[in-house]
Amino acid sequence: MTRVMQTWFATPLYYARLKSSGLSPFVREIERQCQLVRKTDPDGEAWSRENYLGGFTSYGSMSDLHLRNPYFAELQEAIDPHVRKFARALDMDLQGGELRMVTCWVNIMPERTTHSGHIHPLSVISGTFYVKVPRGSSAIKFEDPRLTQMMAAPPKLEGARPRNQQHVKLEPKAGDVALWESWLRHEVPPNPSREERISISFNYDWI
Ligand code: NI
Repeated sequence: MTRVMQTWFATPLYYARLKSSGLSPFVREIERQCQLVRKTDPDGEAWSRENYLGGFTSYGSMSDLHLRNPYFAELQEAIDPHVRKFARALDMDLQGGELRMVTCWVNIMPERTTHSGHIHPLSVISGTFYVKVPRGSSAIKFEDPRLTQMMAAPPKLEGARPRNQQHVKLEPKAGDVALWESWLRHEVPPNPSREERISISFNYDWI
């Protein structure tokens, strides 16, 4: 008898370089823009003091940067085809609609700043573009969406294959874009690096 082992209910993660040419100068410019956003966003500084200890995020103040700033608009144009490719890989039936970036914000994480586990409610695809990832700074950690249902499941072996692990870490490099479905819970553990880690996060909705 042939034995068949299949893996269903996959949780895909999409990971790619943002673009194949002109990436380095673009990353340098967008890093400058991220610092400019920080300098010109006192509401964001205030929001971050309450919600993003030690760091800066424009999530609570300027989360439509792709509509305000041409460099972020250029970023959105570069991310759009990746999102379309990901949606095709997921066999999403958009029924004549499209996936559109609706929010886009900056995250600057100095040493020890953390971003605890969360999902991105009401969106379809979420992701991050990595601007500055110093050596040894935090990875992003994803959680098996079935974790809360695993009442009596035994732990996994050390060295378990990634597809069987309950948490998976992605170690990004500057210039990378990562995409996932918005229901997938993720976190950024405390940044152990003395240098700032800078990223731009975004949500795509079905419109
Ligand atoms: Ni997130």
